Amino acid sequence: MSLNNIEEIATYIVAEGKGILAADESNPTCGKRFDSIGVESTEENRRDYREMLFRSKGMKDNIGGVILFDETIRQSAADGTLLRDIISNQGALPGIKVDKGLQPIEGCDGETVTVGLEGLDERLKEYASMGAKFTKWRAVINIGDGIPSDKSIDANMKALADYAKCAQDNGMVPIVEPEVIMDGDHSIDECYEATDRSLNSLFSHLEQNGVNIKGTLLKPNMVTSGKDSSEQAGVNEVAKKTLDCLIKNVPAELPGVTFLSGGQSDILATAHLDAMNKIGGFSWKLSFSYGRALQAAALKAWSGKAENIFISQDELSHRAEMNKLASLGKWDEELEER
Ligand code: 13P
Repeated sequence: MSLNNIEEIATYIVAEGKGILAADESNPTCGKRFDSIGVESTEENRRDYREMLFRSKGMKDNIGGVILFDETIRQSAADGTLLRDIISNQGALPGIKVDKGLQPIEGCDGETVTVGLEGLDERLKEYASMGAKFTKWRAVINIGDGIPSDKSIDANMKALADYAKCAQDNGMVPIVEPEVIMDGDHSIDECYEATDRSLNSLFSHLEQNGVNIKGTLLKPNMVTSGKDSSEQAGVNEVAKKTLDCLIKNVPAELPGVTFLSGGQSDILATAHLDAMNKIGGFSWKLSFSYGRALQAAALKAWSGKAENIFISQDELSHRAEMNKLASLGKWDEELEER
């Protein structure tokens, strides 16, 4: 595949209903996932798990990009093939998470800012030399008593825009991820408000920094009820409110919106995406960049045992295919029965 610039890279990742496999769990987060299946989080186990995912049949045709963690972009498979080459051979582009996690903001209780701008340019140069075509930075916005504050939204969205400019200057597509967290008992309208304020601030910072929107992908949360809210909004309400919020804030020339799953169940993440694509009325590709909602079933089926590799790969392939259909507005719950 010959991709000459960031605009072509961004368009490629979300072409033909494809989406992104987020496999960039940090070692501690991967440890938590492995704990749930009773597997020790060693470098070799993490390698074996990810090699299995990347070799799945369903990568081809359904996945346009894979987000990796620093350890994984340097790793080779058991037979010596670089994991990033396995990804490319499946027709997907390798990408890399480049932020360095969260730090509390002084004077803003319960709020954090994402760090990692220091030394970013050098790190990006190395990742580009290893063949990374895109990058990801995740900002976290919490909803709670009196939060999110303007200060935390501004600090996080400014950092996202600074990172995005740096990624583009190094020839890579930035995925900007302003994640409004689902935890809490807030209403869907409070989620709408926090998401609206975050996206508004993000796109004004991107513009101020001269970031090329045509060479950028947005990875937002969907507008949902808080996880612990007693009133859970239905699929149609989530789809409509998410679309309203995106249409209000996201420039038409952005090539793709690729949602995070954020703790939604596999099926709901697919159903919401499908409902939005059935409604339509926007110019960007509306697709997925799921971590848990693509991997959960595969992780469970694997359970760390080599004899489970094929059924595990089958689970990932199935979810990837279902989400591709959802990104084309062609999914139906009946297709989940296998
Ligand atoms: P989830 O889909 O599990 O939320 O993960 C996506 C991601 O990359 C979070 O940064």
